[in-house]
Amino acid sequence: MPAERHVVILAAGQGTRMKSRLPKVLHPLAGRSLVEHVLRNADAIAPATVTLVIGHGADTVRHKLVNRPELRYAVQQPQLGTAHALQQAEPLLAGRAGTLVLLSGDVPLLAANTLRRLIETHEAAGAAATVVTALVERPYGYGRIVRTKGKIARIVEERDASPEVRQIREINSGIYAFDLEPLFEALRGIASQNAQGEFYLTDLVAIYRRRKLPVETLVVDNPQEIRGINSRTELAEVSRIVRQTKNEELMAAGVTIVDPATTYIDPDVEIGADTVIHPGVAIEGQCRIGAACELHSHVRIIDSEIADRAVVHNFCLIIGSRIAEGASVGPFAHLRPESVVGEGAKIGNFVELKKTTMGAGSKANHLAYLGDATIGAKVNIGAGTITCNYDGTQKHPTVIEDGAFIGSDTQLIAPVRIGKGAYVGAGSSITDDVPDGALGIARGRQTNVEGWAERKKGATKS
Ligand code: UD1
Ligand code: CA
Repeated sequence: MPAERHVVILAAGQGTRMKSRLPKVLHPLAGRSLVEHVLRNADAIAPATVTLVIGHGADTVRHKLVNRPELRYAVQQPQLGTAHALQQAEPLLAGRAGTLVLLSGDVPLLAANTLRRLIETHEAAGAAATVVTALVERPYGYGRIVRTKGKIARIVEERDASPEVRQIREINSGIYAFDLEPLFEALRGIASQNAQGEFYLTDLVAIYRRRKLPVETLVVDNPQEIRGINSRTELAEVSRIVRQTKNEELMAAGVTIVDPATTYIDPDVEIGADTVIHPGVAIEGQCRIGAACELHSHVRIIDSEIADRAVVHNFCLIIGSRIAEGASVGPFAHLRPESVVGEGAKIGNFVELKKTTMGAGSKANHLAYLGDATIGAKVNIGAGTITCNYDGTQKHPTVIEDGAFIGSDTQLIAPVRIGKGAYVGAGSSITDDVPDGALGIARGRQTNVEGWAERKKGATKS
């Protein structure tokens, strides 16, 4: 029977260098918080339990993670260092045996495969501890791995390191596997005589070596994976890595990204082959974009679905909406949540939809507000049409049936229904339903006063 696996994530620190009121682990990276990235990494090894050590902003962190009721929390107050943080998880792991994987709430990019390799290496070697390390160009800020005869001897923090140790390019990732058996008793042996006066988890390595307990390392090939985030600069650098990885994945699958440096696509987004994405496009959250679509510059799409061959022109904001095959949206369109643009339909410039369905082949080419409306197929909405859906207290629906024609500058005062194939005269304020095939017209009649201009001139001369 394989040993039980448990995960502990350290997330109690303040993250002083972020200079933020938000706890560090809640800062967003490519659409989700740092701690959510770490939790997803943990999911990959299907652990028996996951414990989050929280402290700074504990309530805010808990609140953000209500959708994960299986999480266990240990509160660390005050925050006296990483060893002290792990000690807080002891009561939650009492009576448990097996492997504990320790993750850091601020190291979001760890690959699932690395975690699996960590457990394999650790368990195969029968180690008491296994440290994930990497060789990096710029080791500054990280704990250094000091080896004797090739074996890890101890970890020295940047601030406690001699100039010689600072030359070492092998760093501690802050990710470990531990055998639970000797762990918590050994943690009690850690002191705080160091530059920061903290209880360093990293001291455990020297303690184990002294006790002749086996300590192993797993050196990752790609040091990007273990990048920690301590400052906003690092947050930006790591987001760039996430973006680049996603863009490369999509390009390899046949998506054209004209300028990857300015394209922001969240990890969960799916995009079909031969879709072209122009510079400055952001696609966020859960989005599915079809094949052979074209997304022009400066479009932002959030939690939406776009079917094959649809085109979104420049400067559109699309939230929680669906665009069907071959439809065209924008430039400068705003699709608010629960909007649907039917097959081959056209939403032109300065058109806003809210909770509105446009049927197949319907058009609203210019300057319109369509809210709480159900619009059938092959409907033509003239420029300047507005659904007056709000009476100051309640929202009311508008229904426009197939083939209707709404003349320009019409106000549809909801609740109201325009029948199949009906016409509405331009400039109308429609308060009553228009039956199928009828013409509804509701505006002041025009009067022409003959010779009025000449008479006016005469009047001003005298
Ligand atoms: C730590 C390691 C360092 C390693 C680096 C990798 C120690 C002493 N040092 O340094 O060797 O190279 O990570 O990123 O472990 N935390 C708590 N409670 C505390 C202190 C920290 O929960 O009292 C949490 C933080 O929220 C964070 C993690 O532990 O998620 C790491 O703490 P941090 O202060 O960022 O450690 P580093 O200085 O980066
Ligand atoms: Ca850190």
